[in-house]
Amino acid sequence: MLPIGRLMAEHRLIERMIEILKIEIKNIENIHDFHPNFIDNTVDFIKTYADQTHHGKEEDILFRELQKKDISKDHKKIMNELIEEHIFGRRTTGELIEAKIKYVKGDISAMENIINKIRVLIEFYPKHIEKEDKHFFIPVMDYFTEDEQDVMNKEFQEFDRKMIHKKYDKLVTTWEDERAIKKKQKPDWIVYV
Ligand SMILES: [Fe+2]
Ligand SMILES: [Fe+2]
Repeated sequence: MLPIGRLMAEHRLIERMIEILKIEIKNIENIHDFHPNFIDNTVDFIKTYADQTHHGKEEDILFRELQKKDISKDHKKIMNELIEEHIFGRRTTGELIEAKIKYVKGDISAMENIINKIRVLIEFYPKHIEKEDKHFFIPVMDYFTEDEQDVMNKEFQEFDRKMIHKKYDKLVTTWEDERAIKKKQKPDWIVYV
C-alpha cells in the first residue's frame, strides 16, 4: 500500500466526523445548549486524531521526507500552504478549547464562540483534505522509490503506535501536576514501549 493510502483513509474518518458536527451545530443553535461531553470528545478527536495523529504523520514524516527531495515549485508551494493550514487548524482548535473552558466555568456567552470555532473547522477540513487528496498526495509519491515508500509506511505505523501512549501519558502528567504528585516514571519512557 502507498503510504498516502493510510492518510487518505484517515481523511474519510475526519469527513465522517465533520458530517456529525454539521448536525450537532444545528442542534446547539436550536436548543442553545450542548452536552459538555460532546464538546470534550470533539476537541479530543480534532486535537488527538486530526491534528496530532494525522497532521503529525503528514508534517513529521511525509513533508520531512519531501524536504529532502528536489520537488517542483508547485509542489513546494502547495506543501507550504498545507503547513500554514495545519497551523490555522491548530490555532482554531486551541481557541475552541479556551471557549469551552470559559463556558464550563459559567461564562454562557462563550457558547457563541464555541459554535463559531466549530463552524470554522467544518469549513476548513473538507477544503484542506480536498487539496491533499486531489492535488498533492498522489503526484508527490513519484518522488519516492518503492523501498522509500515501505520505510515511510513503517514509520507511519510506529508513529501511530506511540500515539496512544503519548495521549495517556499527557493526561496522567496533567493530573499529577495538578496534585503536585512526584513522577515515578522517566519522561522518555515511551521510547522503550
Ligand atoms: Fe493536512
Ligand atoms: Fe490530511
